[in-house]
Amino acid sequence: MQTVSQIDPLRQAVATLRQQGKIALVPTMGALHEGHLTLVRVARKLAAHVVVSIFVNPRQFGAGEDLASYPRPRERDLALLAGEGVALVWAPEVPDMYPAGYATNVSVSGVSDGLCGANRPGHFDGVATVVCKLFHQVLPDLALFGEKDWQQLAVIRRMARDLDLTRPCVADIIGVPTVREADGLAMSSRNAYLTGQERADAANLPRAMREAIAAIGTGEPVEGALEALRSALLAGGFASVDYAELCDADSLAPLATRGSAPARLLVAARIGKARLIDNMAA
Ligand code: PAF
Repeated sequence: MQTVSQIDPLRQAVATLRQQGKIALVPTMGALHEGHLTLVRVARKLAAHVVVSIFVNPRQFGAGEDLASYPRPRERDLALLAGEGVALVWAPEVPDMYPAGYATNVSVSGVSDGLCGANRPGHFDGVATVVCKLFHQVLPDLALFGEKDWQQLAVIRRMARDLDLTRPCVADIIGVPTVREADGLAMSSRNAYLTGQERADAANLPRAMREAIAAIGTGEPVEGALEALRSALLAGGFASVDYAELCDADSLAPLATRGSAPARLLVAARIGKARLIDNMAA
């Protein structure tokens, strides 16, 4: 496995790999867990070579968020990726990604606006900007993202369609289902912030979501089910609920009633130092 942190060696390494077949890109911010490794394993089945980017992207963190404390276990991450047969790790530093004078922003309106976009202004601009750059840097045949960040996936798909980044120009974008702990908690690098009791309480999030989905499925009014979900989280150790919404699975438009189109329940809630997000088909 080769690790590069400058754009010229990256382009050379990618060009060599490309001669041998398709390239899959798995963008990450490091602090890898089983969810990331699942993306790598799926990628290995779909492409000859897997390139993983590790970059804690400052543009997607707001003021007062956890940019400085975001876990950066670089040696452990590299060992895990080597064990998964990754060909190339792209690990630029901030000045390599955003050199002095950098001035361009990619902003995807509509799908970025609600949910996490409303709670974290500028977050999805940061994600869209860095993913757009990663696509141009690596020119992958396909790129894989976890469905845990459902809104992020929707933003990236919209950006890729709007900027003509999907094949044949750049990438097929593949969403991979969320990987969960035994008690149902979605895997996340931020779960590392949870203390013992908070970690136990965090399992109330997927539990309350499943209950809300079941209630909606039996015809309970959506707002009543969402209110019960919020109350269950606050009673179950969560300090606050940023949002709990039933949305159209593609446009992310909020749904007041469960229609026939695919729907998704999306929640963000705070416990201890962590802000946890999750989503499920509803
Ligand atoms: O999901 C993440 O880890 C990040 O948002 C991503 C896609 C790597 C962009 O920084």
